[in-house]
Amino acid sequence: MVARPVLHPSSVVCTMIKFVRSSYMPQCGLFQLVSRSFFTSQPASTLQSAYEAASDSDRNDDEYANVNWDELGFRFMPTDYMYSMKCSLGDEFSQGKLNRYGNIELSPSAGVLNYGQGLFEGLKAHRSKGCDLLLFRPEENARRMQIGAERLCMPSPSVDQFVHAVKQTVLANKRWVPPPGKGSLYVRPLLLGSGTVLGLAPAPEYVFLVYAAPVGNYFKEGLSPINLLVEEESHRATPGGTGGVKTIANYAPVLKAQIQAKKKGFTDVLFLDSVNNKYLEEVSSCNIFLLKDGVISTPLTHGTILEGITRASIIEIARDLGYQVEERLVSVEDVIDADEVFCTGTAVVVAPVNSITYKGQRYHYNVGAAAVSTMLYNSLTSIQMGLVEDKKGWTVHIE
Ligand code: COI
Repeated sequence: MVARPVLHPSSVVCTMIKFVRSSYMPQCGLFQLVSRSFFTSQPASTLQSAYEAASDSDRNDDEYANVNWDELGFRFMPTDYMYSMKCSLGDEFSQGKLNRYGNIELSPSAGVLNYGQGLFEGLKAHRSKGCDLLLFRPEENARRMQIGAERLCMPSPSVDQFVHAVKQTVLANKRWVPPPGKGSLYVRPLLLGSGTVLGLAPAPEYVFLVYAAPVGNYFKEGLSPINLLVEEESHRATPGGTGGVKTIANYAPVLKAQIQAKKKGFTDVLFLDSVNNKYLEEVSSCNIFLLKDGVISTPLTHGTILEGITRASIIEIARDLGYQVEERLVSVEDVIDADEVFCTGTAVVVAPVNSITYKGQRYHYNVGAAAVSTMLYNSLTSIQMGLVEDKKGWTVHIE
């Protein structure tokens, strides 16, 4: 494969990249000479340096990486390239580039290591049946990172820079994007306070990184319904805190409850609000919905619950399908009484809940082919995988 940038003469505002390659595409069933173009608004110099790095002599041009695609779980697997871009406090990000995937160097005194000044994002690239690479609403991840960065006093990439970085990372790691229907390439953007601090203050320097790994189902149950335990002692977030943004610091505190629940055979933990210990917040890695008498409800996000992009998409899809969807305070009694419960998230997609255990009592829910959650899962993933027309303009074609 030859992937070589051909720079448009005007080169600064509008850069055209043209890929010409000859390869066997099993899903398309033929050898093809593919010639595709796309435009970006990135300065030519940024793109050029990115591609220079990506054109290393050790570049592997196989159509697919040597992976057993049928056994993908949600585990880290190093891929070929990662994207990085730096910025000083008070400046703007510029000059990002692709490098071979590898370890990064950080001072022990880096802000992220000492005071947790860090954010992450998660989004997926799917390979469609026509072998296009599709991203799902990447601008929403970019905006969410900007909101989080504002909360943690960090500079953030622009939406265009973020999306550009994600596209470059996926393209450079294309051979790691699973075949259609076998999974996705999970893309993990990070924004880290990399500069040194000793007293508590924003770091003087920041790094924006994007790496990726091929993934399958998030839960070990695969697509089978999961079993949740309501956590009654610890809480994930507090009013005025950072539960609503995707800071790295929101995740380690759930591990203790999660590990204890897993030891008892549960899949994951459902957190309640920290004031009343009564209203549902979210599961460690995803948002939660319930269905009762044909009405769908999900906890209102009011600063303590992550504004999930899958959550927002499912609300919209369900409303389009004619369901009433309420964003409101949802009590633990409401969920006990529900007909169906399901979780949503980028990694999780739409996961049906088989049971919730609260105060030692296990409550069961409707699951299976006829469940509303199954229909929502199918509707969402059909868009994400390019199986149906994307009337909402949610998918971004990389090629
Ligand atoms: C995602 O769903 O992308 C997340 O970031 C959750 C993470 C715990 C895997």
